Amino acid sequence: MSDGPQTCDPRGKLDPEGSLDPPDWEALRRQGHGMLDDMIEHMRSLRSQPVWQAPPATQRLRFDAPLPRDPQALEEVHAQFLSDIAPYSSGNGHPGFMGWVQGGGTPVGMLAEMLAAGLNANVGGRDHMAIEVERQIVRWMARLYRFPVDATGLFLTGSSMANFCAVLIARTRALGAAVRTQGLGAEGRQLTAYTSVAAHGCIRRSMEMAGLGAQALRQVPVDTRHRIDMDALKRMIDQDRADGRRPFLVVGTAGTVDVGAIDDLAALANLAQADDLYFHVDGAFGALGVLSPRLAVRLTGIERADSIAFDFHKWAQVPYDAGFLLVRDPALHRATFASEAAYLRRADTGLAGGDWWPCDLGPDLSRGFRALKTWFTLKTYGLDALGEVVDRCCDLAATLAACIGSLDELELLAPVELNVVCFRYRGPDADRLNAAIVEDLHLEGRVAPSLTTLDGKTAIRAAIVNHRTERADIEALITGVIAAGRRRSQVTPSATLAAA
Ligand SMILES: Cc1ncc(COP(=O)(O)O)c(C=O)c1O
Repeated sequence: MSDGPQTCDPRGKLDPEGSLDPPDWEALRRQGHGMLDDMIEHMRSLRSQPVWQAPPATQRLRFDAPLPRDPQALEEVHAQFLSDIAPYSSGNGHPGFMGWVQGGGTPVGMLAEMLAAGLNANVGGRDHMAIEVERQIVRWMARLYRFPVDATGLFLTGSSMANFCAVLIARTRALGAAVRTQGLGAEGRQLTAYTSVAAHGCIRRSMEMAGLGAQALRQVPVDTRHRIDMDALKRMIDQDRADGRRPFLVVGTAGTVDVGAIDDLAALANLAQADDLYFHVDGAFGALGVLSPRLAVRLTGIERADSIAFDFHKWAQVPYDAGFLLVRDPALHRATFASEAAYLRRADTGLAGGDWWPCDLGPDLSRGFRALKTWFTLKTYGLDALGEVVDRCCDLAATLAACIGSLDELELLAPVELNVVCFRYRGPDADRLNAAIVEDLHLEGRVAPSLTTLDGKTAIRAAIVNHRTERADIEALITGVIAAGRRRSQVTPSATLAAA
């Protein structure tokens, strides 16, 4: 980390008009350059840092401070950032981070985020270029997923929110915009949605938040490849109709959170069409598999969805957060969210111009400029390079799976379809043992996988999403799991990593 400039005290002589701008812009410039250097260095040296380390009690205590009524010099606050915050981050930028499904971020994304903060654009509405940048991404995504040219879309925090918005749009399709004024009514209480048992928990939460209730979500069994069982789905829909319920929505998953399975999206599209259901795809990370020609074919059918939720902050490596929703039917999309307010009146010309604003397409009025870091990322790296990252992650997952298959001490717990590998160390009391192994790995700080449960078994889950992850990190994971497993179970192994 740089020494930073000597002084930058924003207190200085206060602006008589009360502005918060610095009295000495040159001092701020020096301090700012120092802060930028520090973060570039942080990124450059990620590999030599621990993937994660527990924040010490002293550091945590400093965040139980009194309200900061008095000003403090910027360099002092920054110094505290360097000592108390930066070393104890969640580690998803680190090449050894394999827990959950999280992107690694990029230097370009970081710089773009700084530019966005500098502009401080509120992208809820009005006539300014930030809105055009977001519209550009919507048009690019419509083209990527072969949606109609007038498809609408918007940035949201993440796929949890994007999936929630999709459920609301499906609800509008079923009940009309009147649901917004009249509530669900008797008809709405019959609405029934379908997704697989492997779907992300946010689909269930979306049903709760939409007032439809989690009981109105049928969780369909999966086949041996963790894909929604189409026959079971059809049977459930028919049974519900026979019982007087009203099927209205089917949610397919492109990349299930646990194992990375991809539902048969073409079959789901056919079924949705035949049964007059709204067809939404939760493609939180898997949807951007279309960037890889190798994977794109496995997503066939996604182009027929009514909407797709996905995150640029996962496989596209855009810094958090950058969730996105793409919607086929612009009228239905607007009918779900747009509302009149005198203070948001549109004008023919001037700053209040524009026939639709992003606030017409989602729940947020104030919105940050997430589109800028995404635009920079897509333009600077290019889609092909991002597709290569996707391929590399899948190749590393295949390497890991092959390695696990060759070692007696390890057991693969699910087929590896994409970039997620679920496995465990064989040993006594395996559930507890594997949970302890993952805690050990986190504390060691070289690699950080996470845990899940598959068929009742605790599994170590390695989700390879980070563009910085390399073969050496995969080897470190295997070595670390075996060492911790042996230590914890205190057995003399018959197989060794060297034999693999
Ligand atoms: C399949 C799937 N859906 C939804 C989500 C939720 O996405 P977010 O964390 O961006 O809200 C995730 C997160 O990993 C996911 O894997």
